[in-house]
Amino acid sequence: MAILVAPSILAADFSNLAGEVRRVEQAGADWIHCDIMDGHFVDNISFGPAIVGFVRKQTKLRLDVHLMIEHADHYLPRFVDAGADSITVHVEPEAKHDVGKTLQQIRDAKCRVGLTLNPETDFKLVEPFLDEIDMLLVMTVHPGFGGQPFRADQMEKVKRAANWNRSRDRQMDIEVDGGINPQTAHVSIQNGANVLVAGTSIFHTRDYAKAIRHLRGGD
Ligand code: DX5
Ligand code: ZN
Repeated sequence: MAILVAPSILAADFSNLAGEVRRVEQAGADWIHCDIMDGHFVDNISFGPAIVGFVRKQTKLRLDVHLMIEHADHYLPRFVDAGADSITVHVEPEAKHDVGKTLQQIRDAKCRVGLTLNPETDFKLVEPFLDEIDMLLVMTVHPGFGGQPFRADQMEKVKRAANWNRSRDRQMDIEVDGGINPQTAHVSIQNGANVLVAGTSIFHTRDYAKAIRHLRGGD
């Protein structure tokens, strides 16, 4: 599977968000990762559907919306209306929604269906849903903040997802998110990941094209 890079705009300069989105698109990004935080499911507040709608107007790239919120089923229609192409929800009970129903809701809205688990969460929780999703997001940090160190112990889950793909002859995307830089991207790809979310290692550099090439393993 092609290695895809999804810059996380959480690390972008919001005073020039339009310019930042266009710049990473020109630099070779494949998707734009939008981190939605509600201050309840995670201990931080980021942005909502209005900003996703604004980003939609700047780019034709796939908008990869990561919902770190409670009651995603209630709010997700607003992200669909804002132009999300892919919506990822959390499997933990603390997310306070019926996971199976929410995944179907995303599917019915004609968006790509993503499911994610925190580092503390057992892979067993996502297994019943693997047949119903287009993408599994393995969090490599506890969600809520950018700039955290990568958790290599989560590669076990990436391997299990890759094995699951092979056993079913499926091509479910396997995304990693948190502390991704050229070294940890390499480790993640070796274990079976094909989508790399990166905030700090792209937006906190001078040359976005070089940063994106390095994440893919190029020079
Ligand atoms: C964290 C978010 C990540 C984060 C990645 O909860 O889901 O997408 O913004 O940022 P870096 O790449 O700086 O770890
Ligand atoms: Zn994210």
